[in-house]
Amino acid sequence: MNAQQTSHNDHHAHHAQRKTKRVERLEWSDALLLGHGPMDDEHREFVQVVTALRNSTAHTALTALDAVEKHLIAHFDLEHAWMDKTGFPDVYSRCHRDQHDEVLASVFHVHQLAAIGQIGLGAVHRLAQSLMDWFPGHADYMDSSLSAWINGKTHGGQAVVLRRNLVHEERVPDESQAEAA
Ligand SMILES: [Fe+2]
Ligand SMILES: [Fe+2]
Repeated sequence: MNAQQTSHNDHHAHHAQRKTKRVERLEWSDALLLGHGPMDDEHREFVQVVTALRNSTAHTALTALDAVEKHLIAHFDLEHAWMDKTGFPDVYSRCHRDQHDEVLASVFHVHQLAAIGQIGLGAVHRLAQSLMDWFPGHADYMDSSLSAWINGKTHGGQAVVLRRNLVHEERVPDESQAEAA
């Protein structure tokens, strides 16, 4: 095992120890802003489609599942494209992609079973709940480092201040933002 694999595994072990807290209600707020505008837009949409899934009825569940699946494919593809484009370090991108893959696999699974009537609304709502519980940790830990990395790259590599209360001010459009877009 080489050094990179070792650190990758350590990194994974570290994630496994992270506990997810039950999220009663996932609501969009500035506290969820990470500072990279297009990623924040994806996250705003994530909150919308997952909330719709959590509140779905037997009548709307399949449509809501479809929306979540389409959203996640696009959202994750975008993040992967940003990783590739900005040379996001492999050791982080592998863990990050693995989490995306796991999430997508469970969405595909539930969607398939729901489509053929093998599972009911309860299972669909449990999927929504697990997505709600998963998101804050993923955003905080994985997406925030990607967002900081992209902003660092597009703003000439200077250190990026991640303090949440500053993020909003930093997003006010100016020349450097225009060039990064
Ligand atoms: Fe994300
Ligand atoms: Fe992500």
